[in-house]
This record gives sequence, C-alpha cells and structure tokens, in this order.
Amino acid sequence: MTPRHFLDIAGLSADEVRLILDLAQRPIASIGRPLAGLGAALIFEKPSNRTRHSMEIAVVQLGGHPVYTRGEEVGIDVRETAEDIAAVMAGYHGLLAARVFKHNVVVRMAKVSPVPVVNMLSDHSHPLQALADALTMEQTIGNLAGRSVAWSGDWNNVARSLAEICVLLGARFSVATPAGYAPVASEVTRINSLGSGEFVVGTDPEAAVAGADAVHTDVWVSMGQEAETAAKEKAFADYKVTSGLMAKAAPGAPFFHCLPAHRGYEVESEVIDGPSSRVIPQAHNRLHSARGALAFVMGVK
Ligand code: CP
Ligand code: NVA
Repeated sequence: MTPRHFLDIAGLSADEVRLILDLAQRPIASIGRPLAGLGAALIFEKPSNRTRHSMEIAVVQLGGHPVYTRGEEVGIDVRETAEDIAAVMAGYHGLLAARVFKHNVVVRMAKVSPVPVVNMLSDHSHPLQALADALTMEQTIGNLAGRSVAWSGDWNNVARSLAEICVLLGARFSVATPAGYAPVASEVTRINSLGSGEFVVGTDPEAAVAGADAVHTDVWVSMGQEAETAAKEKAFADYKVTSGLMAKAAPGAPFFHCLPAHRGYEVESEVIDGPSSRVIPQAHNRLHSARGALAFVMGVK
C-alpha cells in the first residue's frame, strides 16, 4: 500500500485538512498510540526550535520514539543518496521527516519510502506551519471560509503553504510583495485552483491589508538566502508590518508570524509584542497540529 506522505498542503483535500485540524484538537488519549513501538526519524539540514521540539513531542504523544539527526551527519546526497537514506531508515522507523534545502529531496525520499515522509520545511513550502497558522486563526477569528487573510513581505515557503491552506479552506489570501519577488502567474493560477478561496497578489501593503481579518508576515531572508540580505532589506523596506499598517486591517485583527522574527525588519516590536499578536499561541499550536498531521499520515480517522 502507498504510504500517506505529507509534503505539501496542495497534496491534501479540504476534507483532509479539516480532519488534521480536528485531530489536532482532539484529546490525546482519544487518538490512541499509532506510533507505539515505532521510531520517527527527524532529519534537519537547517536549524530549528519549533519544528524540532513540536515534532519530537508529538511523536512521543503518539507512542513513538523520535530520533533527531543532523543533515550533515547523514550527508544527504553527499555521504549517500536521499533515496538510500530513506529506504534504509524506513526499515527502522514508522515515519520519516526532513527539513531540507531542496524540496526535491523530500519528494525523492517519498518516492522510495514505504513509510510516510513528512516535510518539515523546504525552500518550497512549510506545510506543518500552515496547519498551525490555520488552527490559530480559526481559534481566534472563527471558520476561515469567507474571511480575508493578508500577507505583507516575502513570497516564500511559509507564504506559499499559507496561501494553499487559505484557498483550500475558502478564505481570501491577499499578498503584497515587491514586483521582483512575486509568485509567477502560473503559480497564482495553480493556487487559485485548489479550493473555493481566492489568492490575489499585489505590490501595495495597505491595499493587501485593507479590512483583513488576520495579518501575517515572515522574515525577509529565509535560511540559506543569507547572501541576499542587503538586497532584500532594501527591496522590502516598505513591507514592514507596522502599527500604521495594522490600523488598515479590520478592527482588532490579529497578527501572526511563524517565528523566528526580526524585530525592526519585517515587523515592528509594537506589533509583534503588542495586544494583537498571536505569535506565541501560534507557536504552541505547532505541537497540536504536528500531532494531528502525524496521526493523519499514520491512518487515524
Ligand atoms: N516556524 C518554524 O518552523 O520555526 P523553527 O525554524 O524554529 O522550527
Ligand atoms: N521562511 C523561513 C521560515 C523559518 C521557519 C525560512 O525558511 O527560513
């Protein structure tokens, strides 16, 4: 039987996302222990706080044993191929999870792995983050269908997964990003085809945020892009989430950021440390949504 991988939000139906969000909120004891007696390999090519800790604890809560492994230790495509690593580890573990530079590495692992493969962030996407984002938004503003979610900043892995989950769940996702950093037209079309929501892209942060029910951003420079720092700081200077920008959103609209954050760059301290910020519950929901995602790939209904 083909395992149920979790590589992208776009690989899920709206019903499957709803099931994962439901699993995330169920009492742990009612889910059972789908990983009892099994290991979970957690391979990281990049640093992590939230993803490592939430995944390790989610594995334990589902009865399994997490094995944290640094990317350089196994040497993906250096010491041995991603395929050999996945095929071998699948003999020891009930699931494999990886945080990688190149998205294709998790795709290649999934192709050969007889156990589920979970994407813990790639250059393309961060689907575990999107689950926590949707969960936290719904706990704050209610069902996302028909609601308006705004993003000012870089079009990156986190933005892409958030766009996908918003459209799947029927929300409008409005992005403001400098012209040279915008998604290509085919990607806008692809994301718009995922569900009943709407994905719109522009260059004006105030237009994107106008009347929004929730406002998100992320770092301008993602892990691995450090060489682009000076150019991006210049290009994104007008995309910072300030209290002035938040004032354009719906009254009391919550602010979200996947963290880690760079205060004074993509967001002002007044916003991220202010009363509208939901970033800590959002980070804590990484545990519950990870547990939901892992239960889902292990076949819990
Ligand atoms: N948001 C997130 O993925 O955080 P970490 O990089 O600390 O895991
Ligand atoms: N976009 C960021 C997210 C970190 C959780 C990065 O890829 O570095």
